[in-house]
Amino acid sequence: MNITKTLKIAAVALSGALFLAACDAPPPESVQRGPAGTGMVLIYNGDDLDNVVANNTVPEAPPQLPAGGPKASEIYQNVEVLGDLSIGQFTRLMTSITEWVSPEEGCNYCHVAEGFHLDTKYTKKVARVMLAMTQRANQDYGDHVGNAGVTCYTCHRGKNIPEYVWTTDPGGPHAAGITTAMQNIASEAAGNTSLPFDPFTPYFEQAQSIRVAGDTALPEGNNSSIKQTEWIYSLMMHFSDSLGVNCTHCHNTRAFSDWEQSSPERVKAWHGIQMVREMNTQFINRTTDWLPEHRKGPLGDPLKVNCGTCHQGAYQPLLGANMINDYPTLKTYNEATKAAYVDDAE
Ligand code: HEC
Ligand code: HEC
Ligand code: HEC
Ligand code: HEC
Repeated sequence: MNITKTLKIAAVALSGALFLAACDAPPPESVQRGPAGTGMVLIYNGDDLDNVVANNTVPEAPPQLPAGGPKASEIYQNVEVLGDLSIGQFTRLMTSITEWVSPEEGCNYCHVAEGFHLDTKYTKKVARVMLAMTQRANQDYGDHVGNAGVTCYTCHRGKNIPEYVWTTDPGGPHAAGITTAMQNIASEAAGNTSLPFDPFTPYFEQAQSIRVAGDTALPEGNNSSIKQTEWIYSLMMHFSDSLGVNCTHCHNTRAFSDWEQSSPERVKAWHGIQMVREMNTQFINRTTDWLPEHRKGPLGDPLKVNCGTCHQGAYQPLLGANMINDYPTLKTYNEATKAAYVDDAE
């Protein structure tokens, strides 16, 4: 081989190597989540993190208005959940919910020209339930939503319907004589695995137990089994996917069920499960009768909440930004709301 040819080959090899080097992803970052040696590590890719940050910016809040003066219940004709607000607070909140839920359609997304007091549009009636649901989460689910709290924006982000919602999945068509057992088809709900494709109905609407390990030698009425395990793993894929974390965010994987070895986040998640169940059964399911067909799933049930509805890929929604301090009127509910929504929730 002559020297020019050798040099040419070397040059091609070098440029190839440089080209590949330019394609390299930035080095992933790892975060140690538990005691050393337990392998409780989370790996993050820099580009993904940039996307998460970009998707979780919070809109600026208008200045707060004083609580004094006549109350909304004294001036307006048809207020059930916001009666205790001052007129200034009331108008400010209406402006903000418009920005959060229907920025393009404006006030008319919920109201009609004949009068703001009329409940003509189903969207207004849904919004009233949503106001109560949001206040309930902030007042009574502090064990989950912490100081950050929840506003309409946490779920809606400027859209009429939040991006991540679910309805009961009856499964697709399949050949006669074959039982799909509600699984064995790759599904987004189960993190693109072929685990059961509707982990939501049993755990986020019904209150089935999320335990794989029976604590007695014989079944004795508990339904822990291998079959049950597949459903629970599907649910756990959803947890991880929604929060952008892996199992070690909450578990020490040498002993999934042991709370002592789990991180405090698992306890937070447990409270989250209770909150989500209640949002779906006590609040959203009440809206079924008013909803148009295109807002319902194939079995006629409304679009419901899961972990992704608020979290949207971030371990804390909006990366833990505190919006609720700018909207104290969403922190607590009044007696009328308590009677209508909360008493029977207990
Ligand atoms: C996403 C739905 C929604 C949007 C958008 C919305 N509202 Fe409302 N509005 C409601 C609900 C729900 C109530 C009733 C609250 C209650 O029952 O406490 C209400 C009540 C009112 C009332 C009280 C009427 C009465 O006499 O009972 C006024 C005034 C009002 N809204 C003004 C506005 C204005 C102005 C805008 C636009 C800046 C707006 N709203 C946008 C849902 C909405
Ligand atoms: C935990 C998540 C969550 C929060 C917080 C939330 N929503 Fe919703 N919203 C949903 C889901 C899920 C639906 C679909 C269910 C339904 O239509 O009954 C929905 C539907 C709606 C609709 C019906 C829109 C349509 O086009 O059908 C309106 C209006 C609405 N929300 C307003 C609000 C307002 C106002 C707030 C704040 C007071 C709020 N939401 C807070 C999850 C949320
Ligand atoms: C956000 C926190 C969180 C993440 C992430 C998470 N889990 Fe869980 N996991 C929980 C909670 C909370 C429970 C218990 C629920 C209950 O008791 O009602 C649980 C229960 C379980 C159980 C049943 C334990 C028992 O007592 O029988 C298994 C198994 C499990 N998870 C596996 C996983 C796997 C595998 C992953 C990753 C794909 C994962 N989890 C990710 C929070 C989490
Ligand atoms: C209504 C909105 C909402 C829903 C739905 C929701 N979360 Fe959260 N979650 C929050 C908020 C807000 C925080 C932040 C609390 C704070 O800053 O202290 C949070 C925090 C957490 C944390 C603590 C994260 C950390 O590392 O600090 C975990 C774990 C968690 N959520 C799991 C879940 C799981 C699992 C589900 C579904 C069962 C769920 N969440 C559903 C609003 C929600």
